[in-house]
Amino acid sequence: MEQFYDYYNNLVKLSFEDHPFSENPKHVWVICRYRGKWLLTEHKERGLEFPGGKVEDGEGAFEAAIREVKEETGAVVDQLDYVGQYYVAGKGGTIVKNVYFAEISRLEEETHYFETNGPVLLEKLPEVLPKQKKYSFMMKDNVLPCCLERIEAAQ
Ligand code: GTP
Repeated sequence: MEQFYDYYNNLVKLSFEDHPFSENPKHVWVICRYRGKWLLTEHKERGLEFPGGKVEDGEGAFEAAIREVKEETGAVVDQLDYVGQYYVAGKGGTIVKNVYFAEISRLEEETHYFETNGPVLLEKLPEVLPKQKKYSFMMKDNVLPCCLERIEAAQ
């Protein structure tokens, strides 16, 4: 288990065990690849981030991940793999989030992308994310590099 502080100085615990903090997490985050590029979304307030969001009532985390990717980017998930789970002790309460890795089979153009401006494809992610103004705080702690390392090792 890794422990560190996020961009807002909240404590984060990240684990690659099978659902260590909650069997039914209420949040999901999906690291997406499409044709050799990273697929992100541009959140209207937070900026660039991998798609994700809240699990709805009556929905499982896996289904939520597929739905959020479609809503925020128009992407159809071909393969979705569980990567890990993290816990954040936020100022307004704690959250538990599942991280997935998705291979995208196709991108469909949508008329609206919910809270986002839709898909953004990147050849490379910036090296020093915490300094990048246009990126979301979610991209700025150790969750992303640790998960990317794990995904790469599994390829
Ligand atoms: P809404 O209920 O949709 O308005 O969202 P919210 O931001 O008020 O609540 P949410 O339950 O999504 O998140 C609560 C707090 O948890 C946020 O304010 C963040 O501090 C923290 N949080 C949520 N997601 C993440 C994440 O992916 N990484 C980190 N480090 N913190 C997160």
